[in-house]
Amino acid sequence: MSNDKPDSATNPAAKLWGGRFSEATDAFVERFTASVTFDQRMALEDIQGSLAHAQMLSEVGVLSGDEYHQIANGLKEIAVEIEAGDFPWSVQMEDVHMNIEARLTERIGATGKKLHTGRSRNDQVATDIRLWLRGRIDRIGAELTRLQTGLVDLAEREADTIMPGFTHLQSAQPVTFGHHLLAWNAMLSRDFERLMDCRKRVNRSPLGAAALAGTSYPIDRARTAELLGFDAPTENSLDSVSDRDFAIEFCAFTALLLTHLSRASEELVLWASSQFDFIDLPDRFCTGSSIMPQKKNPDVPELVRGKTGRVNGHLIALLTLMKSQPLAYNKDNQEDKEPLFDAADTALDCLRAFADMVPALKAKKENMLAAAAKGFSTATDLADYLVRKGIAFRDAHEIVGQSVSFAIEQQKDLAELSLEQLQQFSADIGADVFEVLTLEGSVAARNHIGGTAPDQVRAACAQARVQIKGRH
Ligand code: ARG
Repeated sequence: MSNDKPDSATNPAAKLWGGRFSEATDAFVERFTASVTFDQRMALEDIQGSLAHAQMLSEVGVLSGDEYHQIANGLKEIAVEIEAGDFPWSVQMEDVHMNIEARLTERIGATGKKLHTGRSRNDQVATDIRLWLRGRIDRIGAELTRLQTGLVDLAEREADTIMPGFTHLQSAQPVTFGHHLLAWNAMLSRDFERLMDCRKRVNRSPLGAAALAGTSYPIDRARTAELLGFDAPTENSLDSVSDRDFAIEFCAFTALLLTHLSRASEELVLWASSQFDFIDLPDRFCTGSSIMPQKKNPDVPELVRGKTGRVNGHLIALLTLMKSQPLAYNKDNQEDKEPLFDAADTALDCLRAFADMVPALKAKKENMLAAAAKGFSTATDLADYLVRKGIAFRDAHEIVGQSVSFAIEQQKDLAELSLEQLQQFSADIGADVFEVLTLEGSVAARNHIGGTAPDQVRAACAQARVQIKGRH
């Protein structure tokens, strides 16, 4: 193959692999099999991988020092060209790897053709994806931490704010708003742990696996792993070029993350409605209606909720892509990139939306309190009070049930009944009952690890901050 690139429409030799071909690739097939339109996102990682590979080759004596310097300088110039948006991407060159390699040879001449020694696109692409994903994981982790920091600050500010807690979306028992926010934080902490666990398996170097069986050159896999900041080389060459389980794991992380964010979104949407009216979302996170002038729609949380569908889809896409693939590399795996890229983009965008929005939401404390006062949310406290007076819990449950039924008839809350009215149901009820029927008394009484008492919420916030700080 000469240095001059012949026209690929007529000449198969225009391809880097064109040697054994006697006719040019069909134009449709060229477009169908190409990945450069999307895998060029990994261009800088591709160059990073090539630089490490070339350096290692020079260190083991496969490339001369001079050849290495020519290659390294050429690759660095190409990186500049790519970042400036001046790189001439070509579908004829199929993918990011061959585009860059061909460009290198175009720029530095025949030495460029030595870069691919002891390497295949199969280990190259696996390396690029891992490098790219590692970078995304770190950005997503930082954004998750930013969200959690804002969430914990808000939880602390709202440690004393009382709201109804729900089961079945029916008023159940009063809780503090801070406690509710810390429930979200607990979900996100586990997501962070999952992300970091996934990172360990992403951060291994497949470079050196070559096409599938390894290479006959005296390569140093530990060296390239080290140069690229990987923890170690992967174990098995066949596995290294073929499995994308690390990408599937990452997509599983995004599916769970978005599932959690969608639950929080749903609550934000409900709370912002005039029916609940618990919070005010800043105008900058909402949009209006083109026909109904009164509307302020919570589009941002709605969209986050909606985007859960697409990341769940990406997880299923990758699982299905991997299923039943025989060892080792198959072209099927080219389909891993778009779902993976989009899952990472979506996770990052949704975290950003939440990290910006959550600290800015305003709790409407009076409305939350008024809602908590409705719906007999301290009924359990009355039952617990009776148990403390020596009544068995089941009997206490029955007594409170009758009291609630009476209060409904009277159109009053339990706390609004008189002592005499309450005593109809149990002679054990004394004047001290009204302390337990208050919302403040109810939440303060749940004073144990993981409970809703304001003091516990403040302690949990302090704990969460220690946990978040320990990440850096
Ligand atoms: N574009 C390919 C991919 O994304 C690179 C590896 C191609 N390898 C091959 N033997 N055709 O998977």
